[in-house]
Amino acid sequence: MKRIVILGLMSLALFSCTSEARHKIARVLFDGVPPLEGPVEVPRDVSSGSDNTENESTPEDTVELAPVYIIHKPYKDQNCSSCHNFDAPESSQLSGPDLCLSCHDTFFSENALVHIPAIVDCLQCHTPHKSTISNLLVQEMPDLCLTCHGEEELPHPTDMGSCTDCHNPHETEAGPEASLHVPFLSGSCSVCHDVENSYALFMEGTDLCLMCHGDTLSGAAVTHIPAMSDCMICHTPHQSQNARLLKQPVEELCLECHDRTRVEEVHGAVMECTSCHTPHQSDSEALLKF
Ligand code: HEC
Ligand code: HEC
Ligand code: HEC
Ligand code: HEC
Ligand code: HEC
Ligand code: HEC
Ligand code: HEC
Ligand code: HEC
Ligand code: HEC
Ligand code: HEC
Repeated sequence: MKRIVILGLMSLALFSCTSEARHKIARVLFDGVPPLEGPVEVPRDVSSGSDNTENESTPEDTVELAPVYIIHKPYKDQNCSSCHNFDAPESSQLSGPDLCLSCHDTFFSENALVHIPAIVDCLQCHTPHKSTISNLLVQEMPDLCLTCHGEEELPHPTDMGSCTDCHNPHETEAGPEASLHVPFLSGSCSVCHDVENSYALFMEGTDLCLMCHGDTLSGAAVTHIPAMSDCMICHTPHQSQNARLLKQPVEELCLECHDRTRVEEVHGAVMECTSCHTPHQSDSEALLKF
């Protein structure tokens, strides 16, 4: 329920523009999103068939097999007004994910991290009317995923099975340590992003974060070198399976840069680094908390 409220807020910021404009933003933001469908006609023969597929063949189409469409139930039922307000096109029913969530209301459980495109725009991946691809997708799998997640960027090969065998395209259950950043959770994307301009960031480096977290680097004697250059070395800006929006659990994070052997030479095999050290600044050379 919390999510729904959030999405309501978000759509004010994100979706007050036309669908074309939105799609354009999406295409700039997410390279490779396929173009809009051409003009749509009211589906013919909508009352036939008991399943939701329809073979749209015409008499002239006898040589090649006509594509078989998966038709979205409300479209097939000609329940156009559940999504459109044709009398006043400028005030269509709802927009963005809220439109889809008005019926698909089991999405986005309270305890979940979201796949960003799913909270931005369902139509990045789905068509609202009909598609030749199951689940009303705009593109075949795995190409759909690979347009945004380049093969070279993946931590594993692409031929291990269908992407959705292992990944949920909409949300992931949040683990016990998970954290969500308040401005992200509340849908205040525009605090950090120029949402009208491909989600460009308003500021670079630490400035963006120090806008609200000035006390993180308030001028103690010693500043941890990475904290001086970029908060994103250790944090993610939106959501994380780790506490404190960290990219990795604390010890793994610290030992990524600090050689374990060297650290153990200095003070033996200790864990819980942050019970003694601060990650940002301190008045002690060894970044101690006390
Ligand atoms: C599930 C919601 C939904 C239903 C039901 C629906 N539409 Fe749409 N329709 C949309 C959305 C969303 C778009 C915008 C597509 C985009 O931006 O890519 C759209 C776009 C359109 C367009 C503009 C052309 C285009 O594809 O952009 C027309 C015309 C249209 N719909 C007609 C209809 C008719 C006629 C019906 C009933 C037979 C209908 N729609 C049922 C959601 C729906
Ligand atoms: C990143 C692409 C992507 C986005 C964005 C996306 N979906 Fe999906 N969706 C998929 C894929 C892929 C499947 C097929 C899942 C499978 O094969 O298990 C699917 C399946 C579905 C299904 C049918 C199966 C089910 O889980 O119930 C529904 C309904 C659905 N999506 C609705 C939505 C809605 C509503 C939104 C926006 C809030 C959305 N999707 C956003 C990719 C996406
Ligand atoms: C008026 C209610 C309504 C709205 C609004 C709506 N849907 Fe659906 N949708 C349905 C129903 C009903 C089904 C069929 C569910 C079933 O078979 O269990 C369905 C099925 C689907 C499926 C599965 C299709 C398949 O058979 O593979 C997807 C994907 C989907 N919807 C996406 C969307 C998206 C994206 C939007 C927003 C553009 C949307 N829906 C808006 C009612 C709606
Ligand atoms: C429209 C672009 C787009 C599409 C299509 C898309 N994704 Fe994503 N995906 C994103 C973005 C943006 C993120 C968030 C990345 C971030 O936070 O740095 C993301 C995050 C992820 C993550 C989590 C990575 C992380 O850093 O936490 C996984 C896993 C993932 N996507 C899998 C998929 C799968 C599987 C598909 C196909 C069903 C898919 N994506 C389709 C844009 C997309
Ligand atoms: C057999 C299960 C499986 C399949 C199939 C699979 N993945 Fe993954 N994927 C994983 C696991 C497990 C991870 C986490 C690996 C890690 O963190 O090192 C992962 C990680 C990712 C990430 C990065 C997440 C992050 O945290 O940075 C993306 C993006 C992703 N997969 C996309 C895809 C796409 C796209 C496909 C289809 C071409 C796919 N995966 C198929 C299991 C799978
Ligand atoms: C506190 C500031 C902040 C807020 C609030 C925020 N973002 Fe971001 N976002 C960032 C930063 C910083 C990056 C770049 C991350 C990086 O480079 O690792 C980013 C990256 C992204 C990306 C590109 C992802 C990728 O890795 O390609 C998308 C899409 C995005 N944000 C969407 C959103 C949406 C949608 C919201 C609102 C629900 C939001 N952001 C709220 C700071 C923020
Ligand atoms: C618009 C103000 C704002 C901006 C900008 C901002 N934050 Fe935050 N941040 C908050 C708020 C509010 C909280 C919640 C504070 C609390 O719970 O005491 C928070 C909490 C956090 C937390 C603690 C999370 C937790 O679960 O304990 C971290 C880490 C964090 N922010 C990092 C960042 C980073 C990194 C950036 C830059 C990308 C950033 N913040 C930018 C407002 C902001
Ligand atoms: C070297 C990794 C690292 C860098 C770089 C870093 N942080 Fe952190 N940050 C952490 C760790 C680890 C914690 C958790 C500390 C704890 O639990 O005591 C944390 C916690 C936080 C918190 C939660 C409140 C607190 O102080 O415990 C905020 C807010 C925060 N960081 C903001 C920032 C900002 C802003 C920057 C950039 C100026 C930044 N961080 C750079 C590792 C880092
Ligand atoms: C991105 C790399 C990076 C990460 C991650 C990182 N550090 Fe550092 N750390 C540095 C650098 C660089 C210095 C400065 C080293 C120097 O001056 O020789 C430093 C200095 C220190 C110092 C001061 C002692 C010294 O050698 O000057 C301590 C203590 C320390 N880090 C602890 C931590 C802890 C605890 C974490 C995990 C929260 C952490 N570091 C994560 C790069 C990192
Ligand atoms: C029980 C408290 C405690 C814990 C836990 C702890 N440290 Fe330390 N650490 C210290 C103290 C005290 C020093 C200063 C030692 C000295 O100067 O002789 C120090 C020094 C360091 C230094 C500077 C070493 C050098 O080259 O001078 C690094 C780096 C460091 N710790 C990293 C870590 C990391 C990474 C962890 C977690 C795996 C960690 N520490 C856990 C107390 C702790």
